[in-house]
Amino acid sequence: MSTPPAPELAGRRLVLGLSGGIACYKAADLARELVKAGATVQVVMTEGALQFVTALTMQALSGRPVVASTWDLREPNAMAHINLSREADAIVVAPATADFIARVAQGRADDLLSLLCVARPVERCPLLLAPAMNREMWAHPATGRNVAQVRADGAVVLGPAAGDQACGETGDGRMLEPAEIRDALVAFFQPKLLAGRRVLVTAGPTFEAIDPVRGITNHSSGKMGFAVARAAAEAGADVTLVAGPVHLPTPPGVRRIDVASACQMHAAVLPEAPRHDVFVATAAVADWRPAHVNEHKVKKDGRRGAPLFELTENPDILAEVARLPAAERPWCVGFAAESEDLVRHSREKLQRKGVPLIVGNLGPATFGRDDNALVLVDAEGETELPRADKLTLARALVAEIARRLPDGVRA
Ligand code: C5P
Repeated sequence: MSTPPAPELAGRRLVLGLSGGIACYKAADLARELVKAGATVQVVMTEGALQFVTALTMQALSGRPVVASTWDLREPNAMAHINLSREADAIVVAPATADFIARVAQGRADDLLSLLCVARPVERCPLLLAPAMNREMWAHPATGRNVAQVRADGAVVLGPAAGDQACGETGDGRMLEPAEIRDALVAFFQPKLLAGRRVLVTAGPTFEAIDPVRGITNHSSGKMGFAVARAAAEAGADVTLVAGPVHLPTPPGVRRIDVASACQMHAAVLPEAPRHDVFVATAAVADWRPAHVNEHKVKKDGRRGAPLFELTENPDILAEVARLPAAERPWCVGFAAESEDLVRHSREKLQRKGVPLIVGNLGPATFGRDDNALVLVDAEGETELPRADKLTLARALVAEIARRLPDGVRA
């Protein structure tokens, strides 16, 4: 049994600011998501926001009285803007309207929420803005200037996404979904152990076609590799994910290349490898493929019995990357999915593949599951990462990789 992971925002004190847009209805859900993730959520609303959702709704969901006015006399010292911004680990404004972003860009302080943004200690209390507006408003050059200005002043802009808008139009300007904003906050608070590094990850099974309707594959779900890609991106890396055939969402900020067969994965990885500092091969690549792919479906033939398929060996992607000349070679991490004698097999693989780190796991105890247990095998010895959900393990693995990486980024 794995222990349930600690809520990801446990102990974080957040100001959730709402400015006046229809996406305020999603902010109610966001408050709930943040509280569920363990954060203390102090809601601050503008006059406009109060037209869209009530303070009562936000108070009920956040469990704290909402503050909406600079002149609120409930604060004993009548300085809500100082108290709230000194207590917060971050201010997240969702939705951030075009007008609100304009006011932040100008450093205005004529309502409590914008006043809070100006009054916060900039280096200690980050500001995250989730824009929400009509596509024409988002595309307006004034909005573009204001967004560039708030970014230059250190604010983090989350989204916006493209899609259907409340006004009936379609385009850029939709606020990110509450779960996406929550995940962006979780990522924001992760230590940036791989800042400036480029990480290449393979994930999932491969599919080796026999004919147009059949093929050889395996039980790999891709969950571990996707978690590694997400954890590396959260740690500040620039991540490329080469994924076998799985139906998992791409982690935010990750560049994804979809492939099916081992040969396609090989063709995708080899040209990418020299541009990356780290290569994590989590994919369960098929060792063999049918030597010939039948153009048409192989038919049952009662007289000749079952067909025989000749197999041929697939390229070993990890071993090839590990053999690249030093100037082109990323720091390589291999995975070993074994059914027994994990450490011995992992250590053999370390030698055979010529890589600095092998991560061993037991195949039947990981494939398709949401949790796993890992043992890291390198020249120094073994490090166990006990059973946990795959994202927790991936974050621990990223920390172990960051600790072992040679200093400096390759050119
Ligand atoms: O070769 P073996 O399956 O024992 O080693 C597993 C490790 O090698 C994994 O990291 C896997 O992603 C990688 N591998 C590869 N190309 C193959 C076979 C395995 O990159 N053809």
